[in-house]
Amino acid sequence: MAELLLKHSFAAAFLLTVLSLTSSFTTVESSSFSQNLSPSSLGLNKPEKLSHLHFYFHDIVVGKNATAVRVAQARTTTASSPFGVVVVFDDPLTVSPDIGSEHVGEAQGIYAFASQTDSSLLVAYNFAFTEGKYNGSSLTVLGRNAVSSAVREMPVVGGSGTFRFARGYAEARTQSYDLKTGNTVVEYNVYVLHY
Ligand SMILES: *[C@@H]1O[C@H](CO)[C@@H](O)[C@H](O)[C@H]1NC(C)=O
Ligand SMILES: *[C@@H]1O[C@H](CO)[C@@H](O)[C@H](O)[C@H]1NC(C)=O
Repeated sequence: MAELLLKHSFAAAFLLTVLSLTSSFTTVESSSFSQNLSPSSLGLNKPEKLSHLHFYFHDIVVGKNATAVRVAQARTTTASSPFGVVVVFDDPLTVSPDIGSEHVGEAQGIYAFASQTDSSLLVAYNFAFTEGKYNGSSLTVLGRNAVSSAVREMPVVGGSGTFRFARGYAEARTQSYDLKTGNTVVEYNVYVLHY
């Protein structure tokens, strides 16, 4: 019995060796999975540009035109904050605090109340632009938004289209807050490096 097991384990070890040799050969031979490119092949040989974008974000949480919806919350919590609430939003972006002013895109994503003691948010969203040379391009924001602070800074971690390889930061300042409805207008200054 012991001898049989030993034979089996030799066979298994042999098979494993053959398999791993085969797969390492395949890796070496396959060149389409990954290759080095010259940065100029993607137009990255020119200097990066620094762009400043300025717009207003409208978070409408009540009414039939709401642009932000609560999708989850904690069943029980002892926190002195809305800890656990998750909101999905598709908020219009305009050039002035007036929602009827020129529309430049949407902020689309999620914010979650991630502090047990205040209204600090974890945010994960995209600015999806629809205007001019930025139409169809996006910037991705991932970070912390301590909404009670006068100025909140969030990292811009990437982008698409005009904003490929983008990085930078977004500064948010509350422009107005409706105590009755919770609707908020936020001024954004976004600074990004991109090609
Ligand atoms: C909702 O949007 C429509 C169309 O823009 C507008 O006419 C209406 O006044 C809005 N309703 C509210 C409650 O804001
Ligand atoms: C933005 O791009 C879309 C899709 O190509 C197009 O339908 C739309 O008219 C463009 N908008 C502006 C303001 O250029």
